[in-house]
This record gives sequence, structure tokens and C-alpha cells, in this order.
Amino acid sequence: MELIDKLDARCRERWGQAPALVACAPGRVNLLGEHIDYNAGFVLPVAIDRATYVAVVPTDEPTLTLEALDLGEEAVLALNDLEHPPAQAWARYPGGVAWALRERGLEVRGLRAVYASTVPRAAGLSSSASVEMAFAMAFQQLGGWSLPPMELALLCQRAENKYVGVNCGIMDQFASACGQAGQALLLDCRALTWEKVSVPAGTAIVIANTCVRRELGSSAYNERRAQCEEAVRLLSTRLPGIRALRDVAVSDFERHLGLLPEKVAQRARHVVEECERTQVGEALLKQGDAAGFGVLMNECHASLRDLYEVSCPELDAMVAAAQQLPGCYGARLTGAGFGGCTVNLVEAGATGAFGEALAARYAKATGLQGEVYVCQASAGARIL
Ligand code: GLA
Repeated sequence: MELIDKLDARCRERWGQAPALVACAPGRVNLLGEHIDYNAGFVLPVAIDRATYVAVVPTDEPTLTLEALDLGEEAVLALNDLEHPPAQAWARYPGGVAWALRERGLEVRGLRAVYASTVPRAAGLSSSASVEMAFAMAFQQLGGWSLPPMELALLCQRAENKYVGVNCGIMDQFASACGQAGQALLLDCRALTWEKVSVPAGTAIVIANTCVRRELGSSAYNERRAQCEEAVRLLSTRLPGIRALRDVAVSDFERHLGLLPEKVAQRARHVVEECERTQVGEALLKQGDAAGFGVLMNECHASLRDLYEVSCPELDAMVAAAQQLPGCYGARLTGAGFGGCTVNLVEAGATGAFGEALAARYAKATGLQGEVYVCQASAGARIL
């Protein structure tokens, strides 16, 4: 593959050596269960055929020399001074992973690494998780220890929460770690157990990038999380024993709605209904019911737009255009929101015409150039 050749050539040019290993980890797209992982419910992500690749040359020096090929930048991190995160924001992802692994008592060897990604950055496809997981695989291989993929995913989530400072849930790192070719993944975010689920025969997953990103993304994300926690606190006065919104049935929510301030109630309604949608969606997927599942995707988008308020005009335009096109079962924003991508379940034979028409309609509605591609469900993080 062209990108791997490029990384290989860069290692030779920069450090006079071929890489000892190349690790890769995919991004993800989520089919259903949005803003549910940190509410302990079920999510349905798919690891995609876009990934971060890292080529590594080990050294005996206690440093990480990191080059981000896509950015044309380099950072040098001292392994015994990881408590101070590097100035460059991008270097905090690999740095944070090294920090989390060492904190757990795992050996992290010095290395020189150059990496690049085919996951579009800041587009809701988990480019950060893919960087974290690719480095985690490389550190594991060089360190000579081995952890189950879910454990590695949890350490990468810890790196992102505590080192990068984004209070994300487990879905992205999990999907990047545990992806399966040709399959969606159903994860119970409380039990951390999961199973493979097939996407209905004769359908394809199409990703459409609005190519816009709203700045308020991470503060709004943390605010939504806090509102969900507030809802649990208030509801637990009448529903003792609940630990997360996952534990609240829609009927109980309706009964005790009056306890919640308006915005908190709106956020919580999205979550309790989306938890239910994901359970129904699992059953529909298992029956191969693409049409039924698509309806749930459409409902999810409306809920994210109107109740959770994490959409934006460009995402709404992309979704509205898709939902009117022939062969489209369902369309919705995917990931945290505030720009980025939509996910579409489309009749396999219709993807070409769908993609062209969608891009044209999006351009007409917004004056912007979007990007559309058919995504293959892929394997998780690995050493190549
Ligand atoms: C981001 C976070 C995930 C998840 C989604 C929303 O991708 O990293 O943990 O919360 O948003 O579903």
C-alpha cells in the first residue's frame, strides 16, 4: 500500500533504518446508540476501512521521537517526563498512551515513529482513537507484553480522558481495537461485553462528510455528559438504584419527567429513547430488516437534532438530502456531532447513484463540497 511505502521511505530517510514494525488501527462509524456509551447503554459501531498507520524504529534512548507525516511536524517526548503533556496537541495522543501504559506498570520502550492516517481528522470518524490504538499496538509489540484488545482500548480511553482532556466514552477505542471485517459490533458499555452483528444482506454503509466542524464541539460534549449525570441524580430520588440513564425505562422517565429542568429532560429523553431504539435495532439487524433499521436511524437523527441538539445545518442538509434518495433506508449524523459525517444505510446496488446525487444535493443546499464513500467494515488494530 502506498501509504506504508511512504512511511517506510520516511524512516530510512530520517533515521537510516527500515521500520522494525508497522502498526495500524481503524477509525469507526456508529450505526445506532449515539451519545449512549457514557450513559452505559448499548452502541453499534463498525470499524471502517480507513486507518492510522505507524512505522516504528526502536531505540535504547528513553525518548519518543514522533513525526506526524500529515502535519509535517515532529515532537520529542522524554519517557521519564510524560507527566508534562507536550505542547503540540497532536503529540498528546501517542504521549498519553505511553503515559497510561507506564502508569499501569507496562514497559514502554524508546522509539522513533512516523505516522499518517487515512481517517479524515475532526470528522466524527474517531481519528484520535485510531492514533491511540495504533501506538498502543506498537508499544505492546516492542514492550514484549500482551493485553486483551478491550484492556488496551480502556487504557487509550484513559489517555484521552486524563491526558488529552476529552471526557469521551469507550465506544471509539473499543471499535478501533475490536473491529471485525464485514461485521458491526454490539457493545454493552457497562458490562464491556460485545458480539458481532451482520449488516443486512444487500445493503452498504455509506459515509458522507459535510467537511465542516463546529468549534464548540468538546465543551458542548462535556456539557451534555454533565446534563445526563444531573438527570440521573434527580431521577434517583424516585428511582433508587439507578446508576446511569441506561437503567431508566422510557415509561419510568415519563412518570418522573417533572423532576427535571427542561433542557436536562430533553437530553435525558434522547438517551432513554435511544437506548430503547438500539435494543430494537439489534433485533431488526438480526432479522436482516434493513427498512426497519433505517427508520430507527432516521428517528435517531431527529432526536440528536431536536432533543440532544448536537446537529448543525450542514449535517441536517446532508441527512435530509439522503433520506429523499432512492435506495436509502436511513441516514443520520454519526459520532459526537457539531459537524463531521453522516452514516447512511443504502441498497448495495444503489450506492453509486446515491453518492453522486447526495454530493450534488448537498452542494446545492449549502454551497459546500462534501465527500461520500462506501465503507467496508474492517478488522481492528493490528501489527502488519
Ligand atoms: C465521541 C466520543 C464517544 C461517543 C460519541 C457519541 O465519538 O468519543 O465516546 O460518546 O462521541 O456517541
